[in-house]
Amino acid sequence: MTGLCIFIAALVLPTLSESGKTYLPTWESLDSRPLPAWFDEAKIGIFLHWGVFSVPSFQSEWFWNSWNNGNPAAVEFMKKNYPPNFTYADFGSQFKAEFYDTDLLADIFKDAGAKYVVLTSKHHEGYTNWPSNYSWNWNSMDVGPKKDLVGELATSIRKRTDLRFGLYHSMFEWYHPLYLNDKSNNFKTNLFTMSKTLPELYEIVNLYKPDVVWSDGEWEASYKYWNSTEFLAWLYNDSPVKNTVVVNDRWGGETLCKHGGFYTCTDRFNPGVLQKHKWENCMTMDLSSWGYRRVAQLKDIITINKLIYELASTISCGGNILINAGIRSDGRIDPIFEERLRQLGTWLKVNEEAVYSSVPWKFQNDTITENIWYTSKQLATSKAVYVFVLDWPSKNILTLGAPQPSSSTKVTMIGHNATFQWSKLSSSGGMNITFPYISPNQLPSMWAWVLKLQNLNN
Ligand SMILES: *[C@@H]1O[C@H](CO)[C@@H](O)[C@H](O)[C@H]1NC(C)=O
Ligand SMILES: *[C@@H]1O[C@H](CO)[C@@H](O)[C@H](O)[C@H]1NC(C)=O
Ligand SMILES: *[C@@H]1O[C@H](CO)[C@@H](O)[C@H](O)[C@H]1NC(C)=O
Ligand SMILES: *[C@@H]1O[C@H](CO)[C@@H](O)[C@H](O)[C@H]1NC(C)=O
Ligand SMILES: *[C@@H]1O[C@H](CO)[C@@H](O)[C@H](O)[C@H]1NC(C)=O
Ligand SMILES: *[C@@H]1O[C@H](CO)[C@@H](O)[C@H](O)[C@H]1NC(C)=O
Repeated sequence: MTGLCIFIAALVLPTLSESGKTYLPTWESLDSRPLPAWFDEAKIGIFLHWGVFSVPSFQSEWFWNSWNNGNPAAVEFMKKNYPPNFTYADFGSQFKAEFYDTDLLADIFKDAGAKYVVLTSKHHEGYTNWPSNYSWNWNSMDVGPKKDLVGELATSIRKRTDLRFGLYHSMFEWYHPLYLNDKSNNFKTNLFTMSKTLPELYEIVNLYKPDVVWSDGEWEASYKYWNSTEFLAWLYNDSPVKNTVVVNDRWGGETLCKHGGFYTCTDRFNPGVLQKHKWENCMTMDLSSWGYRRVAQLKDIITINKLIYELASTISCGGNILINAGIRSDGRIDPIFEERLRQLGTWLKVNEEAVYSSVPWKFQNDTITENIWYTSKQLATSKAVYVFVLDWPSKNILTLGAPQPSSSTKVTMIGHNATFQWSKLSSSGGMNITFPYISPNQLPSMWAWVLKLQNLNN
């Protein structure tokens, strides 16, 4: 009798997740899922904003909303350049993606040293970059490129690289009539969620098997309106990516920085202090827009020094960095973004051991010298502490307050073979490290240098 009951129970239970647990559609249960380890080890992802907004490529990916709200610059731009009866939807047919080369993009992201890529499958404008069954006449197969933009990139990434593929998805759409109707009912009805948001989410997961589901556009309504916990329970228990998928924290007005997988908290979140929960700093190479902007000037683009600062300060505090590029409507990545990414890749080729699979150290920054960030790693025989030195020390002496050296402490620079001399600052710890004379053409990297400290007492 007992045996039979177990047999029947096994038939009706949903599939177990990898951890052997079935998650319930409650935050308590969903939040207990361990984040798949690949995500923390990866440290670096590439974010791509692309859609119909890439055609005007003016102001930002919020252009439609800006124009519709009467923003003077947006109104003026439309008046000067388009006929009076031109609508935002008319930009759709001008979205051509005629130079979209996903093999090239995949190679650039790999060379940049990124370990995952997150593409906008749909932004707040509602246009889907895949042939969705739920976005009638407002998707990349029916209007514009006549291609499956999501599928082509997923295929190239998987064929040519070992990067993980992820998808951004906006829950709400500014002007979808069903959404506006639910909103006017104070979200007591959820026709939009049921006929649009959820079917799309299930569709992209089943079709493209993304390892990251990066949700956004959640803030106007509760997670209950979005049925987020039901979707996540399916994602974790029964979806084709149940063992590998990671999600963010944007699942309803009350979930940001509180529930979900990794926390994003705010755009460009970089707290500078260690966080208890895994987090991600999503930031932009064009400092003022996620979408491509034709009028961006060089001063608006992040420098490689600042990008490495963002990376070092982020990972030392337990975060990942998600570096955004806006893609042009023709499918190309702008050479300035390509250059930044390839510079980062050059730097990472030398310094990767201090980055991937590193863990935060006891200190995140130094206690005496500014602009110094730490990570650490357990090596086969000893523990290493890595010191990210963003400015070459004046007079060639770097003063560090955080490390407590022992008599056998060894200091090297990654990529350089000399052992550095050091002296103890005081009986309570700290070190003065002497940088040797290194001719510029022997410098292991050009923008920031990583010291490796072994045999410390802390
Ligand atoms: C806008 O009006 C012009 C004539 O004024 C017409 O040729 C064109 O087809 C119209 N475009 C749209 C999108 O309605
Ligand atoms: C879209 O709908 C059609 C018709 O119902 C169906 O055959 C097809 O499998 C659907 N596509 C996806 C991706 O679900
Ligand atoms: C949405 O949530 C309600 C309960 O809140 C549940 O009855 C329904 O099955 C859910 N729908 C989906 C598609 O998850
Ligand atoms: C290290 O970071 C803390 C927290 O942000 C800050 O208060 C402190 O000034 C920093 N130390 C140095 C030397 O910059
Ligand atoms: C360090 O590298 C330099 C230049 O490549 C080389 O001449 C020297 O012999 C190396 N020293 C050691 C100790 O390996
Ligand atoms: C450490 O270096 C700094 C800067 O050169 C110097 O002012 C200080 O006296 C040194 N401290 C010790 C204990 O050597």
